[in-house]
Amino acid sequence: MRVVRSVRSIQQLIRKAKSAGKTIGFVPTMGALHDGHRSLLRRCHRENDLVVLSIFVNPKQFGPEEDFGKYPRREQADKKLAKKEKVDIMFVPTAEEMYPEGYLTYIEVERMTHVLCGKSRPGHFRGVTTVVGKLLNIVMPDVLYLGQKDAQQAAVVTRMARDLNFSVIVKICPTVREADGLAMSSRNEYLTVSQRKEAKVLYRSLREARQNVTAGNHSAMAIISKIRSRITRAGSGRIDYIECVDADTFTPLKRIQGKTMIVLAVWFGKTRLIDNIIVHA
Ligand code: PAF
Repeated sequence: MRVVRSVRSIQQLIRKAKSAGKTIGFVPTMGALHDGHRSLLRRCHRENDLVVLSIFVNPKQFGPEEDFGKYPRREQADKKLAKKEKVDIMFVPTAEEMYPEGYLTYIEVERMTHVLCGKSRPGHFRGVTTVVGKLLNIVMPDVLYLGQKDAQQAAVVTRMARDLNFSVIVKICPTVREADGLAMSSRNEYLTVSQRKEAKVLYRSLREARQNVTAGNHSAMAIISKIRSRITRAGSGRIDYIECVDADTFTPLKRIQGKTMIVLAVWFGKTRLIDNIIVHA
C-alpha cells in the first residue's frame, strides 16, 4: 500500500494505473475507520482493480461551533486497517495541500441542501461537495462508494455528480450497525456509557416505524409523532428533526407513498447522531 500526501504524487499514480487499463474504486473518509468503512473498502476491492482510500478531516464542512478540533484522528490505526483491507493507495493530504493560500472555489447543490442536516449545519454540504468534487478530480475513479447512513450526503453528492457531469458511478452501500442496531459512526465514541445505551432507541424507533408503514399507516405526521414519543420516553435524546422525505430529492412528504426515507437527527449531550430507514408503501 502506498501512503501519498501530495496531489501531484497521487495524480502520477492514477495516470499510470489508468494507462495500464485498471479500473479505480474510491472510498473518501475522514478517518477513524470502523466496520462501516471496512464494508465500503471490501466492496470497492471486489469491484475494481485499484482501491483508493482518502483520509482527510475536511475543515470546510464543519461549522465554527462544531467538532473539527476533537474529531478523532488516528492515522496509524487507520493505516493498519487499510492494509488489511487491501487498499492500494491511501491518500492523506494536509489542509494546505487541499486548500492552498488564496483558495476561492466552492461547489454548491441548491435546495436539497437547505433542509434537515443542511438547516441544522449551515455550510456543511457546501464543504462536503467542494471536497468530494476536488477528490473526484484528483482520483478520477470509475466508482465512488458512500454509506447510506449519511443519506442526505449521499443524495447531494449523487446530484452533484449528475449535474456537473462527473464521469463516475456513485454506489450507496447499506448502513453497518452495532449489535444493538446503532449505526456505526466515528462520532459514537463521543457518547458516555449511558448515552450509548440510550442511543439504540434510534434504530428501534425507525424499525417500528417501518412496521407501522407496512401495517398501513401512511400518514407522515402520525409516523413522526410515534417516533418522537418513543425517543423522548427512552431518555435524554433531544430531537433535531424527524422527517419522511422523498428518497432522491429529500423533499418532506405528508403521505408516505412509494419509496420513502424516514430520516432523523437526535442530540445526546453534545453529540448529534443521524440515522434513516427506507420504507415502501
Ligand atoms: O462522510 C464523510 O466522511 C465525509 O463527509 C466525506 C464524504 C469524506 C467528505 O469529507
